[in-house]
Amino acid sequence: MKQKDIIKKIKNKKATICIMGLGYVGLPLVNAFCNAGFNVNGFDTSEDKIYQIKNSKTDISEVSIKKIKKFINNERLNVKSDAKLLGVSDVIIICVPTPLNDSFEPDMQYINSCVALIKENANSNTVVILESTSFPGTTKELVFDKLNDKKRNSFQYIAYSPERVDPGNKKFGIKNTPKVIGGMNKESLKLADMIYSHICDETILMKSCEEAEMVKLVENIYRQTNIALVNEMMMISDKLNIDIWNVIKGCSTKPFGYSKFLPGPGTGGHCIPLDPMYLSWKAKTKNYFSRFIDLSTDINQNMPNYVFEKISSHLNKSSKSIKNSNCFIVGVAYKKNVADVRESPSMKVISLLLEAGANINYHDPYISSITIDNNRRLKKINSTKISKLNINNSDIVVILTDHDNISWNTILKNSKIILDTKGLFHNKKDKQKNLHFL
Ligand SMILES: NC(=O)c1ccc[n+]([C@@H]2O[C@H](COP(=O)([O-])OP(=O)(O)OC[C@H]3O[C@@H](n4cnc5c(N)ncnc54)[C@H](O)[C@@H]3O)[C@@H](O)[C@H]2O)c1
Repeated sequence: MKQKDIIKKIKNKKATICIMGLGYVGLPLVNAFCNAGFNVNGFDTSEDKIYQIKNSKTDISEVSIKKIKKFINNERLNVKSDAKLLGVSDVIIICVPTPLNDSFEPDMQYINSCVALIKENANSNTVVILESTSFPGTTKELVFDKLNDKKRNSFQYIAYSPERVDPGNKKFGIKNTPKVIGGMNKESLKLADMIYSHICDETILMKSCEEAEMVKLVENIYRQTNIALVNEMMMISDKLNIDIWNVIKGCSTKPFGYSKFLPGPGTGGHCIPLDPMYLSWKAKTKNYFSRFIDLSTDINQNMPNYVFEKISSHLNKSSKSIKNSNCFIVGVAYKKNVADVRESPSMKVISLLLEAGANINYHDPYISSITIDNNRRLKKINSTKISKLNINNSDIVVILTDHDNISWNTILKNSKIILDTKGLFHNKKDKQKNLHFL
């Protein structure tokens, strides 16, 4: 198919879009393209994931699973584990995981497997776009070069566009978050721009895929380092007996040159704790050893230990040891209003408490059970409801995630000690003596 034919298909919404990887990033994209009027193929290697989607069992808050079901029933959407879907698609968007391996280096197996499947099954005129977060050079080296080896010089329309959406954010979603795009050439950029313009209000065209890849990493490293900075300011303030929450309120009155970040129990999710390591790894290949990235990773990863020490110290002040104490954890998701425990600092705090012999109850409206590695033995814990009795029976309540739909009043009224790591009740500090903060 010639470029002008693909352009026509995309313009008229006759192009079939295939999303590879139907997780937190892929499924909302499926929804967006279906809503925009495209026929969509959803491909995931996990048969379990396909089963869950077909049977309306997904906890991704950005999508209405009822709508997804409707698109499937109307034959607008086809979800399968069959790679033949790639051969009947005009555009393929890759949204697969980019984790770290055991040596904290980029684990590219999922992107590599997508590229191999595309090469085997897709038509060479297909537009291929990578959305997974990765180091600069990934689109060229692992997608473009691999799809265009000496035997088959064909796939020319290749672009990169990072997913920048903030899960659980009700104000900014796919539509109103500007879409950054880089292309391997002018044609690729033009096609990717046309595709995303159907679902996003604004597209930002970069000069290369490398620039677009770097945008995503710089954004996340900016968050990671600023969170680490405020965590360090909090620890210093604590030593100096200064209330960091009041300090931040003061700083936030400056109308320029200051962006507000809050201290907390550490960073979580698939992005902030992992993405910066992709750049520090890439920098090392050029003999550059990053300092900001490694330092901020170190500070943020140590925050669960800091929270553990705080719990221990508050229990100690009321003549309790951690061993056999009853600790009630509020929130295990890595951030408010999402059902995602990946890299969650809550899991690390719970693990430390269990290791020290505490009894744990937790409540999270989004996560009904968790499995914790307790001294290399897996322990399953179910979410407990927040009731006067449950809170009363606990020696300490530790707020780790500030979800909106929690009966905070029951906690405030019935706890013996509260450690509020999110500063949620800081305005009640002077009135309630059992309230403590980082
Ligand atoms: N979760 C977020 O908030 C977020 C935000 C921005 C960017 N990202 C980035 O987006 C990418 C995807 O993240 P996610 O959170 O959606 O991951 P996820 O784990 O929720 O989903 C990934 C899906 O890909 C599937 N998969 C794995 N290999 C596959 C293959 N070869 N072909 C097809 N499917 C395959 C998995 O079964 C899984 O269902 C990552 O690079 C991540 O860093 C994530």
